Amino acid sequence: MKPIDAVILSAGLGTRMKSKRIKVLHPIGGRPMILHLLDRIKPVSIERIILVLGRQNEKVKEVVMKDFPEAQFVYQEKQLGTGHALAQAEKLFVNQDKTILVLNGDTPFISHETLLSLIRNHQEKSATLSLLTAGLEHPEGYGRIIRDRRGKIQKIVEERDATPLQRKIAEVNTGIYLMNSRFAFKALKEFSSKNVQDEIYLTDIVASAVKNKKAVETVHVGQPEEVMGINNRVDLSSAEALLRKRAAEKWMKAGVTLIDPHHTYIEEGVIIGKDTVIYPGVYIKKGSRIGEECTLHSNVIISNSRIQNSVLIKEFCVITDSILEEAVVIGPFAHLRPGSIIRKKAHIGNFVEIKKTEIGEESKANHLSYLGDSVIGKRVNIGAGTITCNYDGVGKHQTVIGDDVFVGSDTQFIAPVTVESGSVIGAGSTIVENIPKESLSLSRAPQIIKKGWVSRKKIKIKKER
Ligand code: UD1
Ligand code: CA
Repeated sequence: MKPIDAVILSAGLGTRMKSKRIKVLHPIGGRPMILHLLDRIKPVSIERIILVLGRQNEKVKEVVMKDFPEAQFVYQEKQLGTGHALAQAEKLFVNQDKTILVLNGDTPFISHETLLSLIRNHQEKSATLSLLTAGLEHPEGYGRIIRDRRGKIQKIVEERDATPLQRKIAEVNTGIYLMNSRFAFKALKEFSSKNVQDEIYLTDIVASAVKNKKAVETVHVGQPEEVMGINNRVDLSSAEALLRKRAAEKWMKAGVTLIDPHHTYIEEGVIIGKDTVIYPGVYIKKGSRIGEECTLHSNVIISNSRIQNSVLIKEFCVITDSILEEAVVIGPFAHLRPGSIIRKKAHIGNFVEIKKTEIGEESKANHLSYLGDSVIGKRVNIGAGTITCNYDGVGKHQTVIGDDVFVGSDTQFIAPVTVESGSVIGAGSTIVENIPKESLSLSRAPQIIKKGWVSRKKIKIKKER
């Protein structure tokens, strides 16, 4: 068996996306398109992964290198077509007799099973060229497969070069091929750009192989969705819908209730426990782990966070890089910024923002608070409107609150400050100094009462008139 190298054509300008962003970097389910493709070819035993990039696509290299440092890159200076793109890889195949798996960077959902069956068939039949084809209900935009009367493949005709009769053909080119390297690079030298797009088409390789009496094989893909090419934003939304559907089905089969799977967004790289119930509009982004028997109400966005069992998250919460322990209750409208750790059975209510803060077991911050850079003990009650003033314009400072502290409403903590356990803070206080344990602390101005002040004022005004 000849070793296989993959060459991924990704130098195209992606004009139809009408975007400043390079086409293969458009995310699908939060992950750049090109990485989806690389994820899927990884399980196939490939020797080298080579990407053909345009000079303007340097960013693609950066993104790919992070997850696939073994990838290699060649450059296509001018986008003269897919055949010209593959020709740029020739220098990596000098004096080599290899099988090349050619893929388009904008066709990210090919399964490794399909790739394996294409490879197996190619090897069994000792083919020089194999291509993966698909029967599509809507073949518009794809190259059509032209066969002779006996069903033998003759050539590929691009849609724009096709006759009305050829356009009726439902069998299309998926852009995924296996080819012998010596044959391919020799053949490519003879291609012309005499076509509607003035491009050197890789698709001409079929006619070339047929002309040179080389063995050409085709394999039909069972699931056409695998070979969906993403050329514009409409295709992009279909790709999103496909991933969404796959994720929803996977989690429902694993015992998660999705009230409306069409409007639930679960990225790859997420784990969700059984009997968790998810309402419409929830986004669970990569790196998140959700436990069993949790309830996530509508419009909750969770990124890279760990949510333990039996957590209740009410509507409109944003939770990022945080940990929520068992039986915690959050929201509605809570914002948990990076570094929030909410210990067991704690409650965080509406319009509470938390950052780099640990909230101890069974503590409560139920209304309108900002708690940043703090460590808060167990069974603490944080009254409505409590603010940790953690920033003095220069640096960030810490607030430490011990167990069983009662913080009255509208308290400000001027950090750094420590409140020892069991203390009580009167409402409306500004806490500047540390409070020893089990003390009462208040910092309100004394209240003044002037009896009858209102009626005296009214009489005075009347007289003046
Ligand atoms: C291509 C095929 C078509 C097939 C379809 C499958 C050709 C001529 N047509 O059409 O038969 O049905 O894919 O999705 O091959 N690229 C370069 N350099 C270039 C031009 C393109 O690297 O100069 C790359 C693009 O980045 C893209 C891939 O090649 O990833 C395919 O190019 P694209 O323009 O999308 O081709 P299609 O019109 O989709
Ligand atoms: Ca395409």
